Amino acid sequence: MSELRIAFLGDVVGSPGRRAVAHAWPKLRDLHGAHALIVNGENARNGSGCSADNYRELRRAGADAVTLGDHVFKDRAIADVLEDRLHPIARPANLSLHAPGKRLIRLELPDKLPPGLRSRPIYVLTVLGRLYMPLLANSPFEAVDRELSALPEPDAMVIVEIHAEATSEKQALAWHCLERWSSPTAPTVVAVLGTHTHVQTADARVLEHRLAAMTDLGMCGPHRSVIGRDVAATLNAMVRQGPASLDVATDENQACGALLRLDVEHRRSVAIEPIRITVPD
Ligand SMILES: [Fe+2]
Ligand SMILES: [Fe+2]
Repeated sequence: MSELRIAFLGDVVGSPGRRAVAHAWPKLRDLHGAHALIVNGENARNGSGCSADNYRELRRAGADAVTLGDHVFKDRAIADVLEDRLHPIARPANLSLHAPGKRLIRLELPDKLPPGLRSRPIYVLTVLGRLYMPLLANSPFEAVDRELSALPEPDAMVIVEIHAEATSEKQALAWHCLERWSSPTAPTVVAVLGTHTHVQTADARVLEHRLAAMTDLGMCGPHRSVIGRDVAATLNAMVRQGPASLDVATDENQACGALLRLDVEHRRSVAIEPIRITVPD
C-alpha cells in the first residue's frame, strides 16, 4: 500500500507560532515521515491576520499550503497574494463568491516522492462555521459540495478544514462529506479537520475506515496564555473589563496539529495521529 503522510498544523499565532512551525517541520518530516505540510496561518500576524511576509516565512519554514480563517483580511495586502495562482494559499470557500482569493489549493507534492504516492491530485480547502462566529459566511456544507462538484479531477483526494467554534458543526461536516463525497467516481474527502478554537481535542478518529476527523487541531504558539494571548492582558480585559491590548504571549511554545496517513490507491485515510511538539526556550 502506498501511504502518503500529510501533516496539518492548526492556527499559527504570532511570531512564536511561526517559530513553532519552523521547529516542527523537520521533526514531522524526519521522525513522523511527513511528505507535506499544511498550516492555518490566520493568526500569524501578531495574532490576527497573515501578512505577505508571514506567508513567505511559513512557506520557508516548510508549509506547502496555507489556509486562513475568520481573520482572513485583517491584513488587507494578503488579498493580492490570495489572488495569485502561484501561491498555495486559500481563503474560506464559503465567503461571497466576489471576495478576493482562491478557494482551493492543489497541493504540490515533492518531485522526489515515489510515483505511487504522487498518483492522485490532492486538494485542500477551508470553510468557516456559522455558529457563534464573528464573520458571517454561507453554508459550509453547500460550499464544499459546490467546490468539489466543480473539481476537474474525479480521482482527487480532498482535505477539508472547517474553521469553526461549534463542535457539532465540525462533526456534522465530517459526516456530510463521508455521505456525499466517498464515491469511486467523484473526488473523495479523506479528512475533515477543525481549527479556530486553538485548543486541541482528543477525538481524532477515522470514520467508517475512510475519513479522518478531528474537532480541533489546536494552535501553534504560546500555551502559557489564553488561546495564545498574554494572560495578564486577557484578565484585565475579561475580569476587570479594563482597556487592554491583547498581546501575543511568549511562553510554553508548542506546535499542534495532526498527521494524516493516506492510502493513495484506495483514496482513504488509514489513520490520524494528533501532533504536539514542544519548542525549546
Ligand atoms: Fe485562530
Ligand atoms: Fe479563527
